[in-house]
This record gives sequence, structure tokens and C-alpha cells, in this order.
Amino acid sequence: MRNLIVVFLLLFSTTVYSQSRVDVSFPKKDLFALGSYYYPEQWDSCQWERDLKKMAEMGITFTHFAEFAWGMMEPEEGKYDFEWLDRAVSLAGKYGLKVIMCTPSPTPPVWLSKNYPDILIQRDNGMKIQHGRRQHASWSSDRYRSYVGNIVSRLAERYGDNPTIIGWQIDNEPGHYGMTDYSENAQHKFRSWLKKKYGTIDELNKTWGNTFWSETYQTFDQIRLPNAQELPEKPNPHAMLDLNRFMADELAGFVNMQADLLRKHIDKKQWITTNLIPIFNPVDPVRMDHLDFTTYTRYLVTGHKQGIGEQGFRLGIPEDIGFANDQFRNFVGKAYGVMELQPGQVNWGLYNPQPMPGAVRMWVYHVFAGGGKFVCNYRFRQPLRGSEQYHYGMLLPDGVTMSPGGEEYVRIAEELKKLRAAYNPKSRMPEQLASRRIGILFDMSNYWEMEFQKQTDQWSTMTHVNKYYNLLKGFAAPVDVISEKEDFTKYPFLIAPAYQLLDSALVERWTKYVENGGHLILTCRTGQKDRNAKLWEAPLAAPIYHLAGIDKLFYDHMPSNLYGKIGSDGKEYTWNNWADVMTSLPGTEIWATYSDQFYKGAASVIHRKSGKGTVTYIGADTDDGLLEKEVMRRVYSEAGVKTENLPYGVVKEWRDGFYIVLNYTSDVQQIAIPEKAEILIGNARLEPAGVVVWKE
Ligand code: GAL
Repeated sequence: MRNLIVVFLLLFSTTVYSQSRVDVSFPKKDLFALGSYYYPEQWDSCQWERDLKKMAEMGITFTHFAEFAWGMMEPEEGKYDFEWLDRAVSLAGKYGLKVIMCTPSPTPPVWLSKNYPDILIQRDNGMKIQHGRRQHASWSSDRYRSYVGNIVSRLAERYGDNPTIIGWQIDNEPGHYGMTDYSENAQHKFRSWLKKKYGTIDELNKTWGNTFWSETYQTFDQIRLPNAQELPEKPNPHAMLDLNRFMADELAGFVNMQADLLRKHIDKKQWITTNLIPIFNPVDPVRMDHLDFTTYTRYLVTGHKQGIGEQGFRLGIPEDIGFANDQFRNFVGKAYGVMELQPGQVNWGLYNPQPMPGAVRMWVYHVFAGGGKFVCNYRFRQPLRGSEQYHYGMLLPDGVTMSPGGEEYVRIAEELKKLRAAYNPKSRMPEQLASRRIGILFDMSNYWEMEFQKQTDQWSTMTHVNKYYNLLKGFAAPVDVISEKEDFTKYPFLIAPAYQLLDSALVERWTKYVENGGHLILTCRTGQKDRNAKLWEAPLAAPIYHLAGIDKLFYDHMPSNLYGKIGSDGKEYTWNNWADVMTSLPGTEIWATYSDQFYKGAASVIHRKSGKGTVTYIGADTDDGLLEKEVMRRVYSEAGVKTENLPYGVVKEWRDGFYIVLNYTSDVQQIAIPEKAEILIGNARLEPAGVVVWKE
């Protein structure tokens, strides 16, 4: 155990501290930067200077231009106008603001959509999406891609060596609003993708199980993207998994293509990113590997979530930022920023409550706490007309008075000075924290597969994953959400929640990880199928039996109004979402058993030692997560690792020598701060939306 921690500390200190393009724009000594979106095209040009000057005075150090301005850049096919943008860039520079320049691919101008309607995306009902908003062109259209390529190259040539431009954002929240594109272009590309994957139609028929119900195809040309509107019921599950993988590849290919084009022209110091909605179809950031790093966007108070306690709807929930921090930090470039955070009320929520005073600031500190490089808030000014009327900005509608969120940013900019002064570049994560470090293995293919075949209406993949995420944050454990590309040995603990699709190579990696001293936790649904979602011609989840110590396993569900019982360590727990019911192999400890139903006495949680490490299998998914929490605590304590016990909503993180604690709950929280600590911001009595930062 101790050896593993030492290896981990060494790896951590050598990999994280090399200088990258991102570090050039956001030097480590500055810790964190604040930016704000500005749309010169939306405002009278005589106001630009006033606005940008004000932005700089508020402590903002960079702005963000042009992701929706294709219509202004190329008002007619082949006629370009960049002078307005030149002027906006130079005004930003005049006030010391750096600029993130964006490619305008989400908003093709009207001439493009009208002259070449074949570029448009198509809904499942056959309706083509028309000009009038944004994100209406298909990544699968070669014509659209070539027009995008042209405007991107022109932008890159013009601004690629402009010292005010620090980097580039590709597109905006690429994802077609979560819509599947059923255009002919997409149909055609899907067939080519399948041909490449399967080689022969027989292989596809076999993988999709097409002999049943006479689903067999004779040629690839007969295949259409699975579409519930064209079918009497749910599509074939393998076809759906391929659709999701294809869409994710199409999108990533579109982003990577733009990155390659930019790279041809731009200065080495300028970086390339895009801004992604976390866990959102068809986005799979793992595939976007031509970028320098990724960023995400988040809106926490939109009437969709109750939050914690009676004021929770004004605060948001901690995993919305926390999980994204811990995941995006591990994509390409091993760095992240947050490209959009609301500075106040939005216009598009279910209802649009005011965030609690302080919440905007707390979210920014949460991004900081995760190791983020920056927050670029959305947006500087509130629109007076058109799309996004009513959306708050850093300024009120008069364009000069700061909104409450704007004032919170000014406060953060001041506080950051204090943190910079206290920053010790030599600080390293304390050993006690490092000893708790855990990787959560996450793969979009599992998400797609289980969301499509939930098996019970009570299954929610992200609720399951977040249950573990939140309990681990309650232990004050540093968490990394990682893909299989990562080296597992960096982590003393590794959890693969509901990792349904796998192959023998992954099971072997897990086995080695455990033999060498790692603590592996697997949860229900893991290993049921191969990578193409085929069940094994063997007992359910057979490939993990030996590793986890399972002899036999089946699963059960209960109705939502009834609960099954589980006994563990003299305590009783309830479940009704999912239960893997097991008997175990000799040498395996049974940590929890079902105490009712016809399988009373069967195992619910098992644990075994193997080599220098351990494997724990948690078969039940409960509503309150209490069983899962107690089991995870026992895994940690049997490994000799101490954990904290923070209530849900109190977030405690460590970054660069600073401890940061945030309060997402509706109640005052008393925070334990060691006496020797130097408190830099706030104090131990943490109000809702409060922030306290100290150094030890
Ligand atoms: C985001 C989007 C922005 C803006 C914002 C409004 O999802 O990327 O362009 O529309 O919502 O809250």
C-alpha cells in the first residue's frame, strides 16, 4: 500500500509540472484566471470600448469572441469582412484583455443553408432543421465541412499570430442539442462507418443478432440509422450502440478536423480547445484528442434540481461541477477550464430562480478547487432583444451597472491576489490525501448501453455513478474520473461502477492491478457483456467471477413502492433499484446478505483478498446509498486509510497547497480547520454558498 502511494506521488510530481501551451497563457504562478463572453456583433460598435474597458476594470483578464459570428464574417459567399473583428480584438488588447477566438461553425449564414439545403440536419420525423437559430448543419455533410474548413482557415490565417489571441475554441457546445441527425449525409456516413467496422455484412448480421425476427441485411446499402419513428418499437440494441458510437465519432472527427486546420496556421503559443456539455449525447471527449485541452459548460440553477435543503434550488448540486472537474482534468492535455458559468438568472430554465447571493462565487471557487485553469463566465452583457433576452450578464441591461454576479466576480478577482501571494509552487498533495486517491472508471459506451437497456425504470446510470462519487467526496477523497486510457496503478483505489461492457484484456488489467496491491471495487451490472453488447455464452458476468470471487449470480428488481432488505454488520439497509444476488467462491468474505425475498441469505456484497490487494463487489443499488457508503468506508479502513465524514453538500478539496471548503447546503456548517492553519478567505462558520480557503 505504502509503496503504491510512493509510486503515485512520484508520477504525480513529474507529469503535472511540465510546461504546456495552456501554462503559457495561464501561468501556474497566477493560479487561476477570470474571463467573460462578449459579442461585439450584438452591440453598437460605439459601445465596445466602454464595455471592454469596464470588463478589464472588473478584474477580468480575457474575453471570448465570435463563435456565432459567421454571418458577419462572410455575409455573402466568398465575401469576407473581418475588419469589425480586428477592431474588437485590438480594443480588447488596448485594455490588456486577451482573447479566445472561436470558430463560428455552429451558425452557418443564411446563404449557406438556403443555397445548399443538403447541409441541414434532419430530425427523426424527417423534418429538416432550417436557418433561424443555431447548430442546424450536419457534421456528416462534406459540403458543410468544406465551408467550415474555409472560414476556419481564413480566421486562422488572420489571427494565428495575433499576440492578443491566446487560444481557440472550436464551435460551441457541439452536440446538435442532443439530437440524432437522420439526414441522408448521416445515413451515408453511418453505412461507411459500419462497413469499416465490420468488413462484411455477414459479420454485422452476426454481431447484431439479425437472424432473429428476420432482421438480416443483404447489403450495407439497406441499413438506415436506427430510428424509433421508422420502427414499430425500440431499435435493435447493437444497432443503437453503433449509432451512438458513430455519432460520437462524427462529432469528434468534426472537432479534430477543425483543430488540424487551425494548427496549420496558428502560432505555437496559441492553444486549441472546445466547450463541451458534460455527459451529453453524442459527446465523448475521449475521442477529441487533437485538442490541447478540453473545457466544459455548466448551469447549476435552472429550476431542474431541488438541491440540498429548502434553498438548494438557488445553489445547485456539488457533483454538477465536481464530477465535471474530476473528469475533464483527465482528458487530453490533463488540464481544463470552464468555458461557461451563469453569472445570475438564466432565461431557459424550467423556472428561473435567482441564484443565492454568493452562489456564483462559490461555483467559481469550486472550479478553482478542482485544479481548473479558468472560468469564462457566460456572459458580460444582458441581451436587450433577440435570443437569450432575460439572460443575466455581469452587467445589468443598462450596460453599465454591475449585476450581483458581476460584483461577485470583482470580489473573486481581489481575493485571487491574496491567494497568489500565498501560493507555494513547491506544495505537494499531503500524503494522507494521496492515500485516499481513487480512480472512477467511466466509459460512454457503458452509459449508452445501459441508458438504452435500463431493464428497470428505476435505473439511472449517472445516479448510480454519482452515488459513489458523492460518498467518496464525503470521505474527502481526491477523485479522478478516468477512461481506460489511463494507468490504473496511479491510484491506490479504483472503482468501476456498473461497468457493463468489457473484454478479457480489461479483466486482466484489473487482476494485475489488484495483485500489485490496488483495491478494486466493482458494482452491479459489471461485466455482463462484451464490447458489442453480446451476453457471454456462459453464466451472467462470467469473466469477472474468478476476480471477484463469484460462484453464481443473477439480478433482481423490485417495484418502486416496495423495498427489499439487506443485512450488513448488524445493520439493516433497503434496496429496490437493482440487486445482483450472489453465492461466492471459497476464500471470499460476505459483507452483506439479502434478508428477505426468496433468495434470503444470498450475498449482496462480497470481498476478497488477492495478491497484495483486494476486490469488493457491491451487488445492490440503493436509493439512499447508505449501504454503499458503509461498504466503501470499510474498504478504505481495512486498507488502513483514514477517511473524513463530510455531509453531502460540504465540498472539501485540496489544490496547490490550499484547502478549499464550500457549502452547497441550506444550513450553516461548522468546518474543522486545524489550529496551525492560516485562513486566507472566509472562516470556519460557513454560511450557505460560503467559501473558506486555508493553508496548513
Ligand atoms: C449555453 C450555450 C451558450 C448560451 C448559454 C445560455 O448552453 O452554449 O451559447 O446559449 O447556454 O445560458
